[in-house]
Amino acid sequence: MKIMVINGPNLNMIGVREKGVYGTKSFEDICKYINTEGEKRGHEITLFQSNCEGEIIDELQKAYLEKYDGIIINPGAYTHYSYAIHDAIKGINIDTVEVHLSNVHAREDFRKKSVTAPACIGQMCGFGEHGYILAMKALELKNLAE
Ligand code: DQA
Repeated sequence: MKIMVINGPNLNMIGVREKGVYGTKSFEDICKYINTEGEKRGHEITLFQSNCEGEIIDELQKAYLEKYDGIIINPGAYTHYSYAIHDAIKGINIDTVEVHLSNVHAREDFRKKSVTAPACIGQMCGFGEHGYILAMKALELKNLAE
C-alpha cells in the first residue's frame, strides 16, 4: 500500500521533550522504525512532519492528488482543536488512522477530546512508536476487507 505518515507540531522534538511522557527515542529513530517496518510489510511509506497547520492540510490534499491508499496521522496538539484538519481528512476520502504516542485519555482533560478522530477510521494511543505499526496493520486489514 502507498501510505503517508504525517506528524504534527512538536513531534520533531520527541526524545527531547517530556521524556517521562514520550520516551527517550529520537524522532529520527522513530521515523527509521516506521520506514523499516513499513518496507518489511511491503508498503511504500512517505514521512512528513510539520509544525504548521496549513502545511499538514496541504500534505493531506497532496495524498489525495497522488492517490495514496492510507494515511497515518499524529496531529499533536492540533488533535484537540483543529476543525480544519478534521475537514481536510474528511474531504479526501482516504482511510486515515489517528495515532498518539501517549495515552491521551490518561492525561489532562483537554487531551481527552479529539476533534480529528471522528474524521478517521480509528485511533491508536498509548503504545508509543508501536502505535504507527498498529495503525499500518489496521489499514492492511481494512484494505483486505474491501
Ligand atoms: C500527542 C498527544 C497530544 O496531546 C500532544 O499535544 C502531542 C503529542 C501524542 O503523540 O501523544 O503533541 O499527539
